[in-house]
Amino acid sequence: SDPFIIAIDGPAGAGKGTMARRLADHFHLNLLDTGLTYRAVAHRMLTYGLPLQNASAAETAARQLDLGEMDREILSQHAIGEAASQVAVIPAVRQALVEKQREFARTLPGAVLDGRDIGTVVCPDADVKLYVTATAQVRAQRRLAEIEARGGSAEFAQILADIEKRDARDMGRADSPLRPANDAHLLDTSEMDIETAFQAAKTLVETAM
Ligand code: C5P
Repeated sequence: SDPFIIAIDGPAGAGKGTMARRLADHFHLNLLDTGLTYRAVAHRMLTYGLPLQNASAAETAARQLDLGEMDREILSQHAIGEAASQVAVIPAVRQALVEKQREFARTLPGAVLDGRDIGTVVCPDADVKLYVTATAQVRAQRRLAEIEARGGSAEFAQILADIEKRDARDMGRADSPLRPANDAHLLDTSEMDIETAFQAAKTLVETAM
């Protein structure tokens, strides 16, 4: 039988990651946060002091990446997300990472992949495609609450500005811009809690099985 694939796309901070993890747990599927692959390339560049625009070095880092070696703890840092969106505009980096992501998706019984271009580029034949969004204001508010829950502090206006800048870069790039696939189900979570959003997604997946 074919692997069962759930593709989840959307902007930074929309709740894709939580949604992907809950769906993978519930349906016993493998899970790949593809944002981590771009983050790992950016982290490698920063570690070696290489400029993020160095396309050939970034391509090499992408080709050498081992999906099993990615450390979520390190890669989740805010500054790495920003750097990731810079290496993500390089076509050769995308090509190398997409190959690895597709290979991951081929493993039975199937997988949940979340990112920006899963439904449009990585897995255009996915069984279910979700486009998870929330307004930039709501995403910034959630991000601030997360930071404060960890005992940190931040400026709402700064977080909002960062989110808007990242959205513009991800939606505006020439190669694989963030956009919903034509056959994606739109899930605006601005006024939903995690449980409500998960239930809505679960129903959509069950309908496709
Ligand atoms: O989702 P996350 O914030 O970890 O992604 C970091 C960056 O990696 C995004 O802002 C985006 O530029 C890039 N990315 C991408 N395609 C994906 C996943 C992430 O371009 N499938």
